[in-house]
Formats: sequence, C-alpha cells, structure tokens
Amino acid sequence: MILSIMTTPSGSEKLWGGRFSDDLADLAVQFSESTQADRRMIAEDIWGSQAHSIMLGACGIISQADLRVILSGLAQIRQQFADGQFDLDPQLEDVHMNVENRLRKLVDPEVAGRLHTARSRNDQVVTDARMHLRSRLLTLRQTLADLQQTLLDRGAEHLATVMPGYTHTQHAQPISVAFWLSSYAWALQRDQQRLAQTYERVNRCPLGACALAGTSFPIDRQMTARLLGFAGVMEHALDAVGSRDFVAESLADLAIVASNLSRLAEELVLFSTHEFGMIEIDDAYATGSSIMPQKKNPGMAELTRAKTGLAYGRLMQALTMIKALPSGYNRDLQEDKPPLWESLDSVESCVRIITAVISTLKLRPERMAELVKSNYAAATELANFLVRECNLPFRDCHRIVGQIVSTLLKEQRPLTDYRRVSELLAEAGQQISEQQLAEVLDAQAVLRRQVSQGSTGVEATAATIEKLRQAIEESRNEIAAAHQALTQARQRTEQIIQHILQGGELADLKL
Ligand code: ARG
Repeated sequence: MILSIMTTPSGSEKLWGGRFSDDLADLAVQFSESTQADRRMIAEDIWGSQAHSIMLGACGIISQADLRVILSGLAQIRQQFADGQFDLDPQLEDVHMNVENRLRKLVDPEVAGRLHTARSRNDQVVTDARMHLRSRLLTLRQTLADLQQTLLDRGAEHLATVMPGYTHTQHAQPISVAFWLSSYAWALQRDQQRLAQTYERVNRCPLGACALAGTSFPIDRQMTARLLGFAGVMEHALDAVGSRDFVAESLADLAIVASNLSRLAEELVLFSTHEFGMIEIDDAYATGSSIMPQKKNPGMAELTRAKTGLAYGRLMQALTMIKALPSGYNRDLQEDKPPLWESLDSVESCVRIITAVISTLKLRPERMAELVKSNYAAATELANFLVRECNLPFRDCHRIVGQIVSTLLKEQRPLTDYRRVSELLAEAGQQISEQQLAEVLDAQAVLRRQVSQGSTGVEATAATIEKLRQAIEESRNEIAAAHQALTQARQRTEQIIQHILQGGELADLKL
C-alpha cells in the first residue's frame, strides 16, 4: 500500500509529482506541454524505450522477468499507435510521459517504473529528436536527388538549345538550356553533401547521458546505440543533453536549400513573363486571377520564393534559443523541435513542387533564340575571334567590338547584320568577311566554341551532366545504405523483443 502511494502521487498522473503538493495550474500545463511537436516522435520514443530496457536487462540492471513485462507493454503501445489507438494527452506534458504513463496502465506499474532507471527525459528527448531528424534528412536527400535528376533530364534534351545567359540581369553571353538547368543541379549537389555531413553528426546516440552526468548503473551505451541504429554514441554526457548545434546545423542546411530553390523560383517567375517569354509553366502548376481573366500566374514558384523566409526564420529562431544557455538541459530546449519540423516540412514541400514545375515546364526555344540574336550576346565571342584571328591583345579587341556595338545601337542594327559589322571592322583596320562573321556570331556556333571545362559548350555540358548523374547515383546509394542500416536496426530490436516475449533468454542472443 505504502509502495503504491509512492509510485502513484495522490490526485495526479504526473510522473514527477512526488515533490509537489499541488497540481500544475491548467494555464501552466497548456503553456508548457509539447505534445504537438512530440507527436512525430512516438515511434522513436517507443523504440528508444525498447532498446533501453533490453540494455538494462542485458546489463543485469533489471531482471529478465521485468524486462519481459516491460517489452510486452511497449509492444502493445506500439501496436496501439500503429492502429491509431494511441495519441498524446497534453495533460501528460510530453511524449515520454505519455508512453510511460500508458505502460503503467498496461502492465504492473511497479515493473513499469523500472524502465526509467539510468535514463532521464533529458537524454530521451534529444535521442528521439535525433532519430526522427535522421529519417527526415534521408527523405529530404531523396527528394533533392529527384529534383536534380529532373533538372538534368530536362536539360539533356536541350544541350544545343540557345538562350541568353545573364549577368546583372542583362544579356551577357549565349548559354544552353542544359547549362542553365544543370547549374541548379550542381548547387543542390552541395546541399546533398552538406546534408550527408550533417547526418553523420546527427546520427550519434545521446541515450545513457541520463540527466547530465551519466549514471552509477553499469549501463552499456554502445549496445543501446547499436539497437537504435546509431553510428556511435555521443562521447560526453553533459554535451549530449545540452547541445543543439545539430538542430542549428540542420536548419542552416535547410535554409541554404531554400535559398537555392528561391533563385530557381525567381527565374521561373521572371522567364515566364510576357517580356521574357522563354518558358511557360504548365496549367497544372499555374494559378489564375479572380478578376483578370487573361492571367496565368507562377504561384508555385512565388510561394517557394516566399517560403524561404520560413526556413531563414526558423534558423534564426533556433540560434537565438540556443544562445547563452548555460550547460546541461534547459527547458528552453523544448523549443527546438517546432522550428525544426516546420522547416523540414516546408522545404521538403518546396523541393517537391519545384520538381513538378520543372518536369512539366514548357520551353520556348524560338523566343530564346530571338532574344539571343537581338541583343549583342555574341559580342564577347567576336572579341575572342579577333584575338585569335588578328593576334591582337584582348583589351584592344574589347574596345573595337565595344565601338562597333555602339555604332550598331545608334543605327538600330543587330550584331547579326554581318555586312555592316564587316564594314565597321574594316574601318577599325581588321579585314573579316561576312561569311566568317556568320560562322563566329551564330549563337549555335558560339556554344560549339566554348570548350573549357565546366563551360556551356555542348560537350562540356554533356560531361558536366554525366558527372552530376554519377554524383546523384552515389547520393542515392548512400541514402539507401543509411535507410537500410536503420531498417536493420529496427528489425534486430524487433527480433530480440519477439525472442524475449516468446520466453527466450537474453543470454541466447548476441547483442
Ligand atoms: N518536453 C521536453 C523537451 O522537449 C522533454 C525534456 C524535459 N525534461 C525536463 N527535465 N523537464 O525538451
């Protein structure tokens, strides 16, 4: 009787009620509960408890009989969750309290009460968060690989399709559509690398750090980490519970992904205007106006551009939350998960929508060619030609071509008026035939002449695309391997649970 009073504080289901004589005020409960952000980590929280109890059993800290009882209760909770029969009660503060509370209802509460030996919510919460985050990072990497592949697939159709390349949003030099689209695939490749490196640091197990100082129980942290599919443990207990740089780092990666997407989104907006007219967004991904019947708006691209603010904002939110926190767990740290989940959701949805927009995008090669021809984009190549043909210093050629462009502008002639250009060159002392100019200044020919590595030349861009395809393939292999490691760890935990529930002993297993 006395025991049961000690394990179930009077009038409250709070698991930390022993020290308190009054219940928490409703206002305070509502203010401090974290069930909404925690709901995503239910599966991870249960898995964490399963691994922890197996380790306690293996280390002789709880009996095999108690382990069996705990695992049977946790298996029921897992099943209830899978069946939609387990949701979090805000009155119980967080996911950890909810799971433990449910366990106490399903099995002997005295046995259930042994689960929290050598564990704290401080190491639990950050374990759950790291586990959930690592899965989401893998999903994000997959969606990024899909977007990269879509950019390359669309680009590969247009290795020789000429469009204006811009600097300062002014026509600069002709480039190919393949070159334009594949540039974004490269930027996203660095996002892939960043996310892969972040994953390495996220995928370390804090469990066993306990409240902050470790524990006097002879636990085996490596075993818990293995069961949970982590690549290793977090070496320092105080660091493990108090640090959230992995949150800031993930949010920074997400913010950079968002910045890359926003640049592409901006070009989708710009290039689909009447003025540019180089692309048309598919009807399925364009929006209309309720008053102007003729309107077709690039809504998905605009929203992607705008949602960058969310990704930047969540990063700032997390950095500000972390700043100047004293060591160890502080309740402030509960505020790490909402920004993390929101940014993951938002950025992932942006990647998916931009992939759809790109895969259905209509390109207008005639308009691109018209723009390239009309605005002196081949002028640099004319200067390069003079360097080679007349053996003049580049600076002199730059000046000669600049003067020719100035005259043509006054005369309202394009650079493709080869007869006039030939005359103007002759006036500058250089004899170049119309025929030669036609070959040099033709936009297709300009593309063909770009031979340097990483250039817009047809072969160079084909080589770039090939390299990127290999990189994407490697990313996909990495992602699959990481997924498989997680699935295997989950299956291994499940095998152990089944073995114990069917009356087997831990001693029969290699843990
Ligand atoms: N809900 C808390 C969080 O999200 C869990 C850890 C609470 N620990 C504590 N000692 N109150 O961070």
